[in-house]
Amino acid sequence: MSKRVLIADDQAEVREWVADVLRDLGRSAVETSRADEVLPLVEEMGEALSMVLLDLDFGQDQVGGMEALKRLRAAGHQLPVVILTGKGSVRAAVDALKAGATDFLEKDAHVEDTLAAALSRMDQYAKVVKENQRLRAELRGVKEIVGESEPMRQVLAQIERLGPVPRPVLVLGERGTGKELVARALHDNSPRASGPFVPVNCAAIAEGLLECELFGQEENAFDGAPFKEGRFDRADGGTLFLDEIGNMGTEFQQKILRAIEYKSFERVQGTETIHVDVRIIAATNSDLQEAIREGAFRADLYDRLAFDTVRIPPLRERGQDMAPLARHFAQRFHEEVAGLPLLEFTEGALAAMRAAPWPGNVRELKNFVERLATRVTDARIEASDVAAFLQPVGVARSHGGDPGVGSFADRVAAFERSLVERALEASEGNRRQAAEALDLSYDQLRRLIAKYEVEAG
Ligand SMILES: Nc1ncnc2c1ncn2[C@@H]1O[C@H](COP(=O)(O)OP(=O)(O)OP(=O)(O)O)[C@@H](O)[C@H]1O
Ligand SMILES: [Mg+2]
Repeated sequence: MSKRVLIADDQAEVREWVADVLRDLGRSAVETSRADEVLPLVEEMGEALSMVLLDLDFGQDQVGGMEALKRLRAAGHQLPVVILTGKGSVRAAVDALKAGATDFLEKDAHVEDTLAAALSRMDQYAKVVKENQRLRAELRGVKEIVGESEPMRQVLAQIERLGPVPRPVLVLGERGTGKELVARALHDNSPRASGPFVPVNCAAIAEGLLECELFGQEENAFDGAPFKEGRFDRADGGTLFLDEIGNMGTEFQQKILRAIEYKSFERVQGTETIHVDVRIIAATNSDLQEAIREGAFRADLYDRLAFDTVRIPPLRERGQDMAPLARHFAQRFHEEVAGLPLLEFTEGALAAMRAAPWPGNVRELKNFVERLATRVTDARIEASDVAAFLQPVGVARSHGGDPGVGSFADRVAAFERSLVERALEASEGNRRQAAEALDLSYDQLRRLIAKYEVEAG
């Protein structure tokens, strides 16, 4: 059902006439003869109203249109307001625009045309306002975590409970499960929300540079090294998000542990001890317990970071989230890109999606939905579309090492190996790029390289 238009004018014949015109244009109207009714009606009807057509003159001793407009804007309503003016009152209309009116119309014989044009301008305007609100929310870092399944409810409850506690949190989950989203939500839910949230991807920074990146560097007159602020510094009063924590050398882990325990550190080339007030949130998709057993991760750092642990289950274990997540991403993409259809998923499509393995989890689902939106001709998604788009046809066939021989496991291994080799070839040995191209974490790629003893750059 389309939204309604509020007509506020003291003359019944004008209201009827405008309502008629609106009806011809396929819109329905709500009417009032009093300007002081405008604000209460807008508050009562909320989202059901698309705009207000407002007369300025309501007769002697009555609240006027101008006052109604000011009250509306003072109460924070951004609803479009179009002023209805009589002949020759352009001056008053201009004043109304200054007071926050969106547009004005003359009540004359052409009203049908001008009203039609105004309606479409207002629809456009409403869209812009909505997009604006979304962008502002995003700027504040408030991103919606979608999830109705029991495990996601528990994650949300944990965020509420742990957010305000000034202790480290370790966020665990496979790639693409939403670890960074959860880390930001923890920050937003803490008294530090107005402070900085500083992410560091430990896997993306070469071991040798990590110290300088995190702790900064003192200026050095002898070798000309400039002063550099570190991320610990930058996160003062806020949260430092150590992403992919499983990828640091053990020696460096010791330094991090010290910084966390004593809330202080020294800059590279520095002698002074810097004190900061930083909360640490760490995340990883690797198995830290195994890394501890292998001696690759320090147990004492683990104990420090895992004061509390949030485990995000993989998408395949939360079928209930499939429909709301798919709709969420479809809606977002539809709003983001003009002209793209709003996808609808049939029950069959959702069932097929729930049955898929989603190794890339929510990120893979998001990409999948966006790919669908740009490629399908019919916005109604059926199970057959899911089958056609989920696994790009050809990938499995064209890349096999020699998939025709050996046991199933051998063939899978050969395929995996060739994917890694090709990605490294394409990236000229750059592991990070190769991992990205394969939608793997750096850590996962590194293990595959070791497993297959691939010669890598
Ligand atoms: N529950 C959710 N609701 C809405 N969006 C989500 C949800 N979970 C993940 N996303 C979205 O999926 C994408 C991947 O999430 P995010 O980057 O937080 O995952 P990650 O676990 O940090 O991935 P990686 O291990 O690859 O670093 C982002 O675009 C994020 O906004
Ligand atoms: Mg991440």
